[in-house]
Order: sequence, then structure tokens, then C-alpha cells
Amino acid sequence: MDQTPRSPAPSISRIAVSTGGGDAPGLNAVIRAVTLAARNRDWDVVGIRDGFYGLLAPDEYPDGGVIDLSREAVRGIVHQGGTIIGTTNRGNPTAYPVQRADGTWDEIDRSEELLDRFDDHGIDALVSIGGDGSLGIAHHLHQVSLERAARGGRHLRVIGVPKTIDNDLEHTTSTFGFDTAVDFASDCVDRLFSTATSHGRVMVVEVMGRYAGWIALNAGMSSGAHAILIPEVPYALEPVAEMIAERDRSDSKFSIVVVAEGAVPIDGERSIIGQSVGQAERLGGVGEKVAARLGELTGKETRTVVLGHLLRGGSPTSFDRILGLRFGAAAVRALETGHDGVMVALAPPTVQYVPLADATHRQKLVPLDCDTMLTARDLGICFGER
Ligand code: F6P
Repeated sequence: MDQTPRSPAPSISRIAVSTGGGDAPGLNAVIRAVTLAARNRDWDVVGIRDGFYGLLAPDEYPDGGVIDLSREAVRGIVHQGGTIIGTTNRGNPTAYPVQRADGTWDEIDRSEELLDRFDDHGIDALVSIGGDGSLGIAHHLHQVSLERAARGGRHLRVIGVPKTIDNDLEHTTSTFGFDTAVDFASDCVDRLFSTATSHGRVMVVEVMGRYAGWIALNAGMSSGAHAILIPEVPYALEPVAEMIAERDRSDSKFSIVVVAEGAVPIDGERSIIGQSVGQAERLGGVGEKVAARLGELTGKETRTVVLGHLLRGGSPTSFDRILGLRFGAAAVRALETGHDGVMVALAPPTVQYVPLADATHRQKLVPLDCDTMLTARDLGICFGER
């Protein structure tokens, strides 16, 4: 899977870093490692504000939308959540939403314009940190840049760094942000046990996980949840209600259900709360629906807790800090050794480089026969299967 680097590696004097899509704990660790590793090679490093907005709309930023990433700028940021250069999941530059005169919307590809802006700033390479959406944009940009180079234009080399708390990117064992999210969700579920036990209630905890149930599965298992509902297993609530009734009969009057936001009922739809132009649909509400129906089916009191964006906040775990630092440094080594159009990926005990095209063409869902699922089943955890 490793792409053969170009030899000798094209020389580099200036690189840019951008963070796109939802933030994830560990982004700042990547930014720091890219900056220090690059500066230790005497390369200049700049950060593009808010995905690519800083380049596309520089007038909207007092600092011009592109900021110098000096050693001072990245000092003391590894433990901080979020991203010091900002991010966005709006305004995909390769399918940019523009309003027509009649009020309807169209999408235009602003890649060429964006590449011109990179040229204006003398940027030789881009380290694009993002999830499937942002890495797809990075891949498209890279393709357009190669076409420009074939016509004699300047080429922007691109290295992707995988980020998502959902852990749903193929070809990397893990993404940073996931461990922090699981850790926090587990802690929250732990805390719910005492109140659930005291009141003999059913507590339903909704966690992020748009298409993949990694957070729900891991947080639910580590905290001893009794049912886990994930997008990969369409659920029915009758088996969950039966499990709750069985626990009642054995004098365990409380139950904990962890549900991923993207979980889908066997006979229904994913729970969507809205969609804005140029953005993915917003998910939410499944926890409340599950709790209401379980209340009807069991006659028990139910409560819902939605962890949502809390899972994206806070200080990254040491695992995510180290992973972020490793990915950032590996991205710079990739450039130094002539790689181009690849994503850094974790393949324990090392990191490898995977073509961006392969990295983004499908999501990493929970395999139903993976060891974690088998373990959960052996533990008697209910997945809402009929
Ligand atoms: O992709 C990560 C994620 O956390 C999803 O689980 C969630 O659906 C989405 O981001 C929400 O993003 P936002 O509210 O920032 O649009």
C-alpha cells in the first residue's frame, strides 16, 4: 500500500497546515509536531485559518487568513483540545455552495482558485488534517494540482493526516480523538450507574458516531452498559425491553443503554434533525426516541443523556497526544522523503503511508465478527437484534 516516493525528493521551503471538519482532541499535537519537525529542517510553516477559508476569503480575517506557525505559536498546546488555527465543516472548496439569482443553490469547484492562492503564498506542500470529508477534498485538490503540473504549472504536494473521534477511517488502526472520546463517554456512563441504581431507572446515553458505532461499542463495553445500539446493527427495541425485564426479575432494577447517534431502527430511519446548504445532515434525537419507546415497553422510568459535542472537547488523553505528535512528525518525514498524495496511517508498531485515494473511498465500520463484538456478545450485551 505504500506509495513509492519520488527520488530525489523535491526541495521544500514552505509548507501549510490546515484542519478541516469537526474538531478532535489531538489536533494541536499534530500542528505542534508538524511545525517543530518542519522548522528543524529549516522550512517555513503557516497555518490556514478555518479549513481553507483563510485562503479563499482572506479579507474576512484581520491577520489575512494565513498565520505564521512559529515555535512560539505552538508552545504549550499539546494538552489543549480544539485547533489553534480553527476549522469548519462548511464551504467545501471543491463543491462550494453559491446561491443563484432565483434563490436556489448550486455548487462550484474552487480548486483552481485555491491552488492559485497557495502559489501566491509560495507554499510547496500542504498537510491536511481531517476526516473523510476533508481528506476527500485534499485528494481532489491533489489531483487538480497534478493536472496543473502536467500543463507546466506549479505542483502542491499534499499529505493527509487522519482525524475523527468517530474512528471511521479505513487503513489506519486508529485516529486521534477517538481514545479521548471513549474515555470521557466511559466516565459519564460510570457516573450514571449510581443514579440509575438509586432510582431503578433505565438511562439511555446518546453518543456521537454518525455511520460507525466505535465510540458506543467501546464506551459501552468499558463501562458495563447492558445494551449498545450501533449503526452497523439495525435495532429493534423489543429485545432490549426483554433484557430490561429480565434484569428486573433478577432484582437488578436499573439498566444502561448506550446508543450511537447514527443507530437505525430495523423498521425506520436514521434520526436527522436538519441539514444546511453545503453541510452533512445533522443527526440527533435517537436517544430520546429509544428512551420513550423503552418506557412504553417496560413501564419503567427512563431518562436520556446526550453527550454530543462534549465528546469532542477537553484535553486529549496521552494516547491521542502521542498519536497526534507521531502523525504530525510522520507527515513531515513523508514530505522529506518525497511522498505525495498519501495519508499517514497507524499500523502498529509503526506508521505507514497510504494513497489518499484508498484512504477515503469507504468508511471503517465495526465488523460484526470483530473480536470486540464477539467479546460484547460473550458478555451478554444486547444489540437490539430480533
Ligand atoms: O464526524 C464527527 C462528528 O463528531 C459526528 O459524530 C457528528 O455527527 C458530527 O461530527 C457533528 O458535527 P458538527 O455538529 O460539528 O456539524
